[in-house]
Amino acid sequence: MNALVVGAYWGDEGKGKIVDLLAANSDWVVRYNGGDNAGHTIVVGDKKIVLHVLPSGALQGKNVAIGPDVFFNPASFLKDLNHVRESGFSPGKIVVDERAHVIMPYHIKLEGEKIGTTKRGIGPAAQDKANRTTDVTVFDMTSPDFLKKIKEVVNEKEAQLTAAGILGKNFDAETYCRRIYEVYSAYAARIRQYAGNVSYMLNEEIKKGSSVLLEGAQGSLLDVVHGTRPHVTSSNTIAGGAAANLGIDLRPFKIIGIVKAYPTRVGEGLFVTELGNYEDTKNEERNKPLTIAEKKSVVEGNEKLLGRWIRMDGAEYGATTGRPRRVGFPDFVALKYAAMINGINEWAITKIDVLGGKAFKAAIAYKKGTSITERFPFKLEGYEAVYGQTEYFWPSMTEGQCKAAVSEGYDALPKGMKQYIKELVRHTGIPVRMISLSPERDITLINGVFERTVEYLRK
Ligand code: GDP
Ligand code: IMO
Ligand code: MG
Repeated sequence: MNALVVGAYWGDEGKGKIVDLLAANSDWVVRYNGGDNAGHTIVVGDKKIVLHVLPSGALQGKNVAIGPDVFFNPASFLKDLNHVRESGFSPGKIVVDERAHVIMPYHIKLEGEKIGTTKRGIGPAAQDKANRTTDVTVFDMTSPDFLKKIKEVVNEKEAQLTAAGILGKNFDAETYCRRIYEVYSAYAARIRQYAGNVSYMLNEEIKKGSSVLLEGAQGSLLDVVHGTRPHVTSSNTIAGGAAANLGIDLRPFKIIGIVKAYPTRVGEGLFVTELGNYEDTKNEERNKPLTIAEKKSVVEGNEKLLGRWIRMDGAEYGATTGRPRRVGFPDFVALKYAAMINGINEWAITKIDVLGGKAFKAAIAYKKGTSITERFPFKLEGYEAVYGQTEYFWPSMTEGQCKAAVSEGYDALPKGMKQYIKELVRHTGIPVRMISLSPERDITLINGVFERTVEYLRK
């Protein structure tokens, strides 16, 4: 089976966990967008591994590739690789596309404070990509003319680098280029062996009948075109981005949307179903479990504290930057939009365990003044959520109960959970293939899920 995994909300949906699971049946796992702004967490036994650039299939010993439109930080790549190897895993073949855009030290320095980025230099690297003459590729980095290339680029960017204080006081251009070269040529020496053309490789593999898994980074609502601009990332995160970025035909691919049971968002930008607000979340005291009195206040309708409760139970702190993630009520408007713009065939729901013991509702429309819409607006200003009548609730499940649910199958899930899943399926028109109940690879329910959720669409 060829499949593509894409996040439905604003990232951190649990793509890493699902990719790791699906990788067991894949020959190749390929990253098609983003860079080390991503943080994909995989838990295997007592090991927790966060990968930023390397595809999550690396832990299943699979062949992995990094596509030509990835913003490639060589240091992060090597760190990921070391991390995987030191944890006792080893990927199969590794291919890094020679056209991938290298993140240079000045990209990170040039990153502004606006919009709450991950500060990995993704935006500035994307500007150089669009600029064409100032882009440094893996091809450039691994060629004998690398120093010459750095000099040309720094020369062209000199005014910008001087204005930003990168050149001038501490460095003249010549010294700066040599410094970069020293560090980056050492990376290049280790990466040269992996450089190749991922488009030819993948097309040949697909033709041969190999099974390919494509791993998206970020989420649909962070797409540079279809997301909540300007608070988005710099790449096409949606499924179609993979066709354009990798140069492959997506028709043989199943598109799997990863839906976290509740949306989260890091960084700035409007968030219609948010529980509490951005500033509160940002300034919140870490790891402070709710008191009994606070939990009581949640039952009485304190949404800010419900947000904190979900954040605590779901460990919603950024895998890349450690920032607390903003949390919201499930949003069927956003999910319906994600299903449409990606062409999603089936959902994988993650972190549904986190909502156990917490009553919640889901947005079914947005409202602005007197007008109500089921469409996801380009500009969210002034919109508020219209929630469905149903309040969902089921008691929280222990790890043992989650494990048991995995073997017993879909029918044995708590009633309130199935009710939520049913509404999600009906609102989006997409059935569910799997339900993740823990960070652990194996605690994922597949048995009976697709069959039952397809039935929801027939009735
Ligand atoms: P990604 O960026 O989409 O790969 O997601 P992240 O790794 O940034 O964040 C997802 C977090 O949720 C990670 O800490 C995972 O270990 C964890 N996780 C994934 N699936 C589940 C689940 O079903 N239940 C719980 N409780 N945690 C999960
Ligand atoms: P994964 O793959 C969540 C967000 C940043 C910021 C905006 C732009 O782990 O789901 P950027 O550094 O890309 O220019 O930042 O996008 N962002 C993510 N949020 N998960 C991610 O990746 C993200 N990658 C970028 O927080 O709001
Ligand atoms: Mg993440």
